[in-house]
Amino acid sequence: MLDVSSHDVLLVGGGGAGLRAAIAISEADAGLSVAIVSKVYPMRSHTVSAEGGAAGVIHPDDSLEEHIYDTISGGDWLCDQDAVETFVKEAPEELLRLEHWGCPWSRQEDGHIAVRPFGGMKKTRTWFAADKTGFHLLHTLFQTSLKFSAITRYDEYFVTRLLINDGCVQGVVAIELATGRIQAIIAKAVILCTGGCGRVFRFTTNASIKTGDGMALAYRAGAPLKDMEFVQYHPTGLPFTGILITEAARAEGGYLLNKEGYRYLQDYNLGTPQPKPVLRSMELGPRDRLSQAFVKEQEQGRTSEGLYGPVVYLDLRHLGEKVINARLPFVRELCLKYENIDPVKELIPVRPVVHYMMGGVHTDLNGATPLKGLYAAGEVACVSINGANRLGSNSLPELLVFGARAGRAAAAFAAGQQAPNRRQILAQALDEETRLHDQFLQKSGGRERISTLRDEMQTTMEKGAGIYRRGDLLTHTAGKLIELQERLGSVTLYDRSHVFNTELVSALELSFMLDVAECITHAALQRTESRGAHQRTDFPARNDERFLAHSLVYRQTDGRPRTEYLPVTITRWPPGERVYGR
Ligand code: FUM
Repeated sequence: MLDVSSHDVLLVGGGGAGLRAAIAISEADAGLSVAIVSKVYPMRSHTVSAEGGAAGVIHPDDSLEEHIYDTISGGDWLCDQDAVETFVKEAPEELLRLEHWGCPWSRQEDGHIAVRPFGGMKKTRTWFAADKTGFHLLHTLFQTSLKFSAITRYDEYFVTRLLINDGCVQGVVAIELATGRIQAIIAKAVILCTGGCGRVFRFTTNASIKTGDGMALAYRAGAPLKDMEFVQYHPTGLPFTGILITEAARAEGGYLLNKEGYRYLQDYNLGTPQPKPVLRSMELGPRDRLSQAFVKEQEQGRTSEGLYGPVVYLDLRHLGEKVINARLPFVRELCLKYENIDPVKELIPVRPVVHYMMGGVHTDLNGATPLKGLYAAGEVACVSINGANRLGSNSLPELLVFGARAGRAAAAFAAGQQAPNRRQILAQALDEETRLHDQFLQKSGGRERISTLRDEMQTTMEKGAGIYRRGDLLTHTAGKLIELQERLGSVTLYDRSHVFNTELVSALELSFMLDVAECITHAALQRTESRGAHQRTDFPARNDERFLAHSLVYRQTDGRPRTEYLPVTITRWPPGERVYGR
């Protein structure tokens, strides 16, 4: 029998954006009942693994104007400029608010907030808490959320479907993982805060939970996904695990070397080599350019062949043990634990790995999607402030600024709504319960394994939709994904138990990932130009005449994607050339 509960506003996802939104709702209207539904305990959300920092103008020699310009040019002019202005203006306020809630930002000797340089930013504006910024930020939000009695948490619940009545999103169906019970959670407004989908690719910094759930939920419900072709590779992940070696390592003065020990980035228009640790050396170029430079080095035989593919090296040895321990303790810990390498004495092998989705659920500045009652914030959403390439350290302030805005907007919306019609909503929830049983829990006879399909998806995505793309390879990947969608219908679960059925979760996650992978590939195939992180070897130039526009991918009735375009909002910064290192 289906369990049912009701709230005013429901958040899917308990990471940084979800917690910030929940606090904003309770602060806006203490009378609203708020639910946070999360597939993991909130402190295990992926925000916890953010390392390098959060950008926000604070020093007198910096300005909002410069942060705006860095963000827009870094995004190759695909950012909506009104969104960037809002973001840059509100980011410092949010970071200071966190300070008041207890976030232990690193300080200068004189007690002021310390900032470090970051990739693609021409001024030093990245706040940090050593190299564990995400952990401290998430912890601060989590402990603050505990003060609000109106917030109810559904920890370790997996959402399988959005419930829609009369064109309005009014809740979700979720599985309680500890018991297998299926529950309808009704609400007047729903905010998706589920993060990105890096697990669609083989090598990624993303935790295994980042499977595009919120993107797929919205897409299946009829909301468009925006700019999905823009997938960010971070230039320095550990080769096997993909674990992030933060950009802060280069901000502190680390070098990138090819197999000949040469600082190869000096050959890629990113600036001249600096003799010792200095701010903004060429290693702090934007991520798209650095990842592309890696491929060029590989093509010229100047990368080393590691057990898990080609690598270059991050050299921190000249920084010395004291600096590494003080500013990059987590980098040292990760290298020792996962590679048995001590960066004080040894080079770190690194490779580009998928890190972040610039695209996501299409929203306005308040997180509202085109579906009434549905909001989104954080990596799952595309507002868009990141355009074709996000600058490092813009994502943490993004989830704060737009988490808070979405929370306030959803609170105002919910306050004006009648209670949802339970009968209609519950009929849909029962349908979903039947689907889960028929499609997964009671089905037998299929031969496909989840892990095989997932492997094949990751391989084809890496080949077709990686750092460089080409029409014929993308077409092949698109065809392969349709084949995998069909084969998903022949998956049989071996585990039919109710308690923590992780096989069922993997099957549901895989089906979300396949939808999202199709959107990425389709949008990449349609965009016959090169811009930011989307590089087409068959269309190497940026084409503003045709593509100064966001892609919007809709799901058709046959389940396949269809792409439309929406002009980019340009206010004060006409498109120009992206210039670094001069
Ligand atoms: O390298 C890093 O610390 C990543 C930061 C970010 O993606 O914003």
